[in-house]
Amino acid sequence: MEGSAVLGFLFCLVTGIQAAGTAQQGTGLVGDGSLTLSLLQVEAAQTTPPFYLGFATAAPQIEGANATDGRGPSIWDTYEAIPGNIDNGDTSAVADDFYHLYLNDIAAMRLLGVKRFRMSIAWPRIFPSGDGQVNQQGLDFYARVLEALLVAGIEPHVTLYHWDLPQALQDRFGGWNSDQIVPIFAQYAATVFQALGDYTTHWTTVNEPWTFCFLGYGQGSGAPGINDKVQAWNCVHNVLQAHAAAVKQFRALVPGGKISINLNCDWAQPLTGAPSDADAAQRKMEFMLGAFADPIFKGDFPASVKQRISFLPQITPQLAADLNGSVDYFALNHYTSTFVANQQGAMGLQGACDYTETQVDVNGKLIGDQAESDWLKVTPWGFRLMLNWVNNRYQPNEIVVTENGMSMKGESAMPMPQALQDTQRVNFCRDYVAAATDAVNLDKVPMTGYFAWSLLDNFEWGNGYSKRFGLVHVDFKTQQRYYKASAKFLVNLFNCTVLDPTYTYPSD
Ligand SMILES: *[C@@H]1O[C@H](CO)[C@@H](O)[C@H](O)[C@H]1NC(C)=O
Ligand SMILES: *[C@@H]1O[C@H](CO)[C@@H](O)[C@H](O)[C@H]1NC(C)=O
Ligand SMILES: *[C@@H]1O[C@H](CO)[C@@H](O)[C@H](O)[C@H]1NC(C)=O
Repeated sequence: MEGSAVLGFLFCLVTGIQAAGTAQQGTGLVGDGSLTLSLLQVEAAQTTPPFYLGFATAAPQIEGANATDGRGPSIWDTYEAIPGNIDNGDTSAVADDFYHLYLNDIAAMRLLGVKRFRMSIAWPRIFPSGDGQVNQQGLDFYARVLEALLVAGIEPHVTLYHWDLPQALQDRFGGWNSDQIVPIFAQYAATVFQALGDYTTHWTTVNEPWTFCFLGYGQGSGAPGINDKVQAWNCVHNVLQAHAAAVKQFRALVPGGKISINLNCDWAQPLTGAPSDADAAQRKMEFMLGAFADPIFKGDFPASVKQRISFLPQITPQLAADLNGSVDYFALNHYTSTFVANQQGAMGLQGACDYTETQVDVNGKLIGDQAESDWLKVTPWGFRLMLNWVNNRYQPNEIVVTENGMSMKGESAMPMPQALQDTQRVNFCRDYVAAATDAVNLDKVPMTGYFAWSLLDNFEWGNGYSKRFGLVHVDFKTQQRYYKASAKFLVNLFNCTVLDPTYTYPSD
C-alpha cells in the first residue's frame, strides 16, 4: 500500500475503535476525567530505562468465549472441569472476555501510551481438532485484533502456543509426549504465518515449555494433569523439534521476521558458600533453562542433565543443526529466585538432580518479600544475575524479557480502591527495572525489551481468579477495568507518549 492509502486505512480503523468503544459503553475501562487527567499529567522520569516497555497477556488467560465461533476444547478446559484442580472451582470459560472486549483493552493501552503488546494465538480457535480443517473465524478474530493494535500504534508480539493444546491431540497420541505433534505444530504454525504473518515481525513459538512439560506432564499440577517424568522429558524433546520445524516455516513465510521461544527461569542462589552448593545452583540453572537453551545454542543437553536423566532423549546431529540459528533473540520470562543446596540422591520436579530448593536461608529468613503467589518472592537482585547468566552462557545478540511481574500480597481480599493503590507492585516494577537497567548499563547485557506481566488481572491457571497479576484491575462480575497505580508508574517511568491526548475513553 502507498503511504496515503495506509493513512486512510488507519484513519478508518481508528474511527472503528472509537465507534466500537462507544457501542460497548459501560463494558469498558472506567476512567473519570480526573483519572485521565492525572494520567496525562504525569511528569516524565529523569532518565528512561535503556529498553522498551510492553504489556503481556496469553489467550487462555484473557479471552474467554471458549466455545465461540468454532473454538474447540483445549487440555485446560478439560483440566479445569476436574473438581479440585482449580481454586474455587474457577474456569477460563469467560476470563476477561477479551474476545469481545479487545477494542476496549487496546484503547486502554493506547491511552496509557504503551507501544508493544504481547499476546498469544489460541490453537483450538485455528484448528478446533488440532489439525485438519482450518476454522476461518478463528483466523479472522486475530486479524481483527492485530489490525486494531496497529491502528492504535501498538506493535504486536505474538506467541503461537501458550499452553492451550487442542484436546483432540492429547486424546489421539498423548499431546507433547509424542513426536507426532511435530509436523502438526509445524502445520499450525504455517497456517498462522500465512494468514497473519504480515501484521508483525515479532514472534515466538512456544511459551514456557519448562512449565507445561514439568508441571503439566511431569507433576500433574497443570494440564493435562499427568505425573510422569519420562513424558516430561519427551515433552522437552518434542518441543525442541516442534520449535525447529515451526521456525523452518517462519523463514519461508515471514521473511525479515524475528522469532524466538519464551524460556522461563528462576535465579538459583547457592544456599551457602560451599563450592558444592555453587555447583548445585549452576546445575539447577542448567536443568531449568539449559534443558532448552543449550540444545538451541550449544547443540546438546547440558552434561549435568545427561549424566542424571537415564531416559533422556537424544539431540541428533540433524536436530542440533535445525536448532542452530532458530532463535533471533533470547526471550526470557523471569519472576523470582530460590536457594539451592547440593544433596546427592535428591529428586526434584525434573527427576534425579542432586539438589534441593528452598525459599529460606540457613537462618530461616525468606529470600525476598512474599507476593500473593506462594512461589513468588521479590528478588530484583536475582534478575540482574539471571540476565548476566544468560548473556555469559549463550551470548545472544539480543535479550527480550517477555514476562516479569507479580501478584500483590493480600490484593484479592482488598476493597477495590485499595487494590488500585498497588504499592508493592509499583516497588516491584521499580526495583526489577532498575536491576535490569544495571545489567544493561553496567554489565553490558544486550537486553532490548521488557514486557510487564500482565495487562489485566486474569485466569491464573490453578489459582483461578484468586491471584491478580494485572496492571489494570478487572472486576470479573461486571468486566469493568480500572487502572492500577503500577500501570501509571510504568508508563511514566518509560516516558510513554500518549498518542492522542484528546482521546478519552468512553465512560458512563
Ligand atoms: C520524554 O519524552 C518527551 C516527549 O517525547 C521528550 O521530549 C523527553 O526528552 C523524554 N524524556 C526523557 C528523559 O527521555
Ligand atoms: C467451556 O467452559 C465450560 C466451563 O468450564 C465447559 O463446560 C465447556 O466444556 C468449555 N467448552 C469448550 C469448547 O471447551
Ligand atoms: C551453528 O552454525 C554455525 C555456522 O552456521 C557454526 O559456526 C556453529 O558452530 C554452529 N553451532 C553449533 C552449536 O553447532
